[in-house]
Parts: sequence; structure tokens; C-alpha cells
Amino acid sequence: MTKLNNYTSYLVWDSSTRWFHWINAVAVMGLIIVGVLLWNDNALGFSDAGKIILKEIHATLGYVMSLNLLWRFVWAFLGNRYARWKAVLPGGPGYWRALRGYAAAFLAGEPQQYAGHNPIARIAITVMLLLLVIQAGTGLILAGTDLFWPPFGAWFARWVAAAGVDPASVSPLAVNTIDQAAYQAMRAFRRPLVTIHLYTFFVLS
Ligand code: HEM
Repeated sequence: MTKLNNYTSYLVWDSSTRWFHWINAVAVMGLIIVGVLLWNDNALGFSDAGKIILKEIHATLGYVMSLNLLWRFVWAFLGNRYARWKAVLPGGPGYWRALRGYAAAFLAGEPQQYAGHNPIARIAITVMLLLLVIQAGTGLILAGTDLFWPPFGAWFARWVAAAGVDPASVSPLAVNTIDQAAYQAMRAFRRPLVTIHLYTFFVLS
């Protein structure tokens, strides 16, 4: 706490929370931009190799986003009182009264001032974190089905490897390393995940 003339300043957002915020913002913007290119890859005339490069850039940004998000979840147990779960998630003692009070004051044109997240922001942040978790979960599986990248890529490579081919040498552009029947079954498996990933992107954007 620092006193400046008549004002008192409090350290609300600790440095780890600030780093999370900006890394998340930059990664999500990048994911949206490359995601839009991927979504329209045929209309934009990308070659197969170009599509793979786009997916690699997108998935690399996705790893950054996912690890950053994971760290934020750990930090919600370790950080200062404004960074903790009970200051982020809705609920807990007095929450609903605080929410009604905040909404009433807001509608009366006199919004209450909060250090940290106000009760409505806690709902918004929770929805956003849930959407990011869905994107990270579906995206990491898609990085496995499309690029054979970790954490699930080795499993998908074993699924689609052609007879006698070492799964470690399966690669998206090396058609002769892939069993076509198994590949079609794997594509059918991933289809609903792509749909969830795309619709969550619509909601996030
Ligand atoms: C805020 C986060 C994210 C957004 C907004 C986003 C957005 C998108 C969009 C719009 C597409 C194109 C979908 C389509 O072609 O129908 C896409 C595809 C893809 N995303 Fe993400 N994504 C996010 C996070 C991630 C993460 C964390 C990963 C993995 C680490 C990932 C991996 C992929 C992959 C592999 C594809 C290609 C799927 C395909 O072939 O259609 N994404 N993403």
C-alpha cells in the first residue's frame, strides 16, 4: 500500500497475473488470426504444405496459451488475494448479495468501485476461462490428429500408421506412412471436436 497525496494505491494485480493477462491476450489474438486463415484455407488457396505450416503456427501459439492458462490455475492457489479462486469464481459467502447490490447500483447509474474483479466480472471471467479450457482441450487433441504433436500425437500416429511403418515416422504429408481406412476412422473421430473448436471460437470472438 502506498500513499500519494490523498490517494492510497494498492497492489491488486501481482506480476504473475499481469504476465498471464498479456501473454493470454497476445496468444489468443494470434490464435484467432491464424484460426480465421485455417477456417478459410481452401478459399484462400493454401497448398497442403501451407495448411500444415498454418496449423503448426496455430498449435505453437496454442501451447503457449495452454501452458499460460495452466500456470494461471496454479497461481490461483498461490497468488495474492485478488488472484485466488475465491476472488475469481462466482459464489462463496455473501456473493449473491454482493451481486444484487452491484447490479442495483450499476442500474441506478452509481457503479460500486471494486479492487479486483467485481461480482459481475467474476461471472464473465469464469465463462471466458471455461471457453479457453474447451479450446485448449479440443485444440491439443486436434494437434494430435492433424500434426501428430504431443500430448496425444503418438497415440493417433499408432492408430493410423500403415502396416510395418514405425508410428514415430508417421507425418501428415507422407501419405505412404498412413493406413487410409484407419485415417478415415480417425477423421470421423475428430470431426465433432473441430465443430466444438469452431463454435467456441465464434463465442470467444
Ligand atoms: C482461443 C483459442 C483458440 C482459438 C480462437 C482457435 C481458433 C481456431 C479456428 C477458427 C480454427 C479453424 C477451424 C476450422 O477449420 O474449422 C482452428 C483450428 C485448429 N486449432 Fe485452434 N484455436 C484456439 C486454440 C487452439 C489450441 C490451444 C490448439 C492446440 C494446441 C489449437 C489447435 C488447432 C488445430 C490443430 C486446428 C486445425 C483443425 C482443422 O484442421 O480444422 N487451437 N482453431
